[in-house]
Amino acid sequence: MENFTFYSPTYFEFGKGSESKTGELVRRFGGSKVLIHYGGGSVVRSGLLDRVKKSLDAAGLGWVELGGVKPNPRSGLVYEGIDLCRKEKVDLVLAVGGGSTIDSAKAIAAGTLYDGDFWDFYTGREIEKALPVGTILTIAAAGSEGSPDSVITKEEGMFKRGGHGDAIRPRFSILDPALTQTLPPYQTAAGITDIMAHLHERYLTNTKDVEVTDRLIEGLLLTMIHEGPRVIKDPNDYEARANIMWAGMLAHNNVAGVGRSQDWNSHNIEHELSALYDCAHGAGLAVTMPAVFKYVYRHDVMRFAKLAVRVWGCQMDFDHPEVTALAGIEALENFLRSIGMPLTFAELGAKEEDIPKLVEALCYGDGRPGSISGFVTLNADDCTKIYKMMV
Ligand code: NZQ
Ligand code: ZN
Repeated sequence: MENFTFYSPTYFEFGKGSESKTGELVRRFGGSKVLIHYGGGSVVRSGLLDRVKKSLDAAGLGWVELGGVKPNPRSGLVYEGIDLCRKEKVDLVLAVGGGSTIDSAKAIAAGTLYDGDFWDFYTGREIEKALPVGTILTIAAAGSEGSPDSVITKEEGMFKRGGHGDAIRPRFSILDPALTQTLPPYQTAAGITDIMAHLHERYLTNTKDVEVTDRLIEGLLLTMIHEGPRVIKDPNDYEARANIMWAGMLAHNNVAGVGRSQDWNSHNIEHELSALYDCAHGAGLAVTMPAVFKYVYRHDVMRFAKLAVRVWGCQMDFDHPEVTALAGIEALENFLRSIGMPLTFAELGAKEEDIPKLVEALCYGDGRPGSISGFVTLNADDCTKIYKMMV
């Protein structure tokens, strides 16, 4: 295991009705004037936004609001939010919604305290200072409610890139599984896929002797395989929703990823798809992951075989471990198909003729060196082949 530091100070309030504590938590974490940030309207329709405002009013807190975050959030609204926070002297940013809203809130929180262009944080500069961020999560997926990450798309060039720093880890996150019951099935399934991708990206490591994190990841994947179909069958199954919501947080706050190298190439390759086609990130991952895994599994056949046996219940073929490894990848594909996810470019709405454009943005865009690194370093030729496997 490698040396590591792990700092995860988010305060979680979990359970039915927990959003009624919003005002109390904002006050506890030092907020007096709040920016309420939200998406395209689901929180208005569900009545959640009104309940949040009432809770802030009851606690005697000031607030301003900025809605309109799109899935795959854009830089334009971040600049608007930064201006608003400065003008209104906001001291805490409250995201009410999914990963896109939370990521946009994190970017605003960091940009407000920074003299330069906030995009610097999305091209390599560590985020060291930010307004405190609180979240009320409405979809189990991205794990942004407990992560130090934010993913934003720069409209100029449509580059989708990540920014990082412990300063943007939420100070508090309110997780009420009942809030996810209004999700359309496709979004629920995309969220399940994203959570499973976060686990795979950590499982694919070149670090030896990481049994504790291997076992955490395997346990969380088994949970998703058990709970995912339950919630697809019955969207109102609160217990399944609750298990998935907590698994989503555990999959991405990095408790299961410390002390080991990680992959993230499926995510990098997917981000170009959601940047170009505006597809749901999780749906893009359903198309991307199997192709990437089939391309790289020979790099460490036994790691893929172990996953196949321990998670998918495949029989170990000691003479031909590659057969076991591929059976595991096939089981993942079957699972994704069973929850209604796409597996091909056509099903996602992506086009084969765009592959050169995707590869250019992925490997060279916004200062990249011609390759992406992870479990295996992939150059432009590798990435072209991987995208072609998805057609
Ligand atoms: O915008 P509204 O109207 O709220 O609708 C959203 C949106 O259309 C809807 N939705 C959310 N909760 C709902 C609901 N509809 C009905 N009922 C509810 N309870 O669902 C749609 C998707 O929302 P979004 O926030 O985009 O989903 P998600 O949480 O999957 O976030 C995706 C974004 O997170 C990034 C992705 O790249 C993508 O941009 N990621 C962020 C990470 C991080 N910060 O750590 C890591 C991830 O790997 C990921 O890359
Ligand atoms: Zn993801």
